[in-house]
Amino acid sequence: MATHVITGAGSGIGAAVARRLYERGDEIVLHARDAGRAKELAAAFPGARTLVGDLAEPDKLSWAVSHQTLPDRVDSLLHIAGVVDLGTVGDLTPKTWRNQLNVNLVAPAELTRLFLPQLRVAQGHVLFVNSGSGLNAHAGWSAYAASKHGLKALADSLRHEEHANGVRVTSVYPGRTASPMQAKVHRQEGKEYDPARWIDPESVATTILMALDLPRDAEVNDLTVRPGR
Ligand SMILES: NC(=O)c1ccc[n+]([C@@H]2O[C@H](COP(=O)([O-])OP(=O)(O)OC[C@H]3O[C@@H](n4cnc5c(N)ncnc54)[C@H](OP(=O)(O)O)[C@@H]3O)[C@@H](O)[C@H]2O)c1
Repeated sequence: MATHVITGAGSGIGAAVARRLYERGDEIVLHARDAGRAKELAAAFPGARTLVGDLAEPDKLSWAVSHQTLPDRVDSLLHIAGVVDLGTVGDLTPKTWRNQLNVNLVAPAELTRLFLPQLRVAQGHVLFVNSGSGLNAHAGWSAYAASKHGLKALADSLRHEEHANGVRVTSVYPGRTASPMQAKVHRQEGKEYDPARWIDPESVATTILMALDLPRDAEVNDLTVRPGR
């Protein structure tokens, strides 16, 4: 049975991926920002293990992880958690920059570092949910786009470094997806939010599972997913 460590499993795309893997009987280890959130995830996915650590504080992840029981092997590490805060360069403060860089970039790098031994044992898969903003940066999106451009660089370097160890690396670049994050983006843009206009998180989950389940003769490096309507 495959073991997957998943961040962001409490909402949106991460929740859809966690449910699919859970329902097919895989072992899932759900990362949560704090003990309260971990309890909620454990109730939503009975039998699933949890792992607590705030991604906004990557310096503390190593200590947090070293005090919890980890799986011996990890078949996939799915970096799905993320945050967004729009604002022009003229308005964004260092605090807002740091929060997005920490959650979206530094914490995924640190979690990957911490789980690489278990990933190598399993010849596992590291998958990063990136964004269209990881490929193109638009007005008002600088901090988020910088974090996601950095996440692309992290994934590309990691792929070169770990290829010989049999660890596969995939970046998925979704367009706007109907989730609480997208509702917040619309609030910040001052636009009305209609979830029916955007990608269903289930469709992003389908692309993620396709990359994970691909036979070992091939590796999906990059997947761009755009709204179909
Ligand atoms: N929605 C879109 O339009 C869109 C488009 C392109 C890419 N993406 C990317 O897709 C990924 C998932 O986004 P989503 O739309 O599913 O967003 P979402 O519904 O807002 O979910 C974000 C998840 O990240 C977790 N998270 C945030 N800060 C955290 C922290 N400090 N520590 C631990 N966990 C934290 C949240 O935990 P809680 O549940 O505890 O809040 C939540 O589970 C993100 O990486 C996002 O950048 C989204």
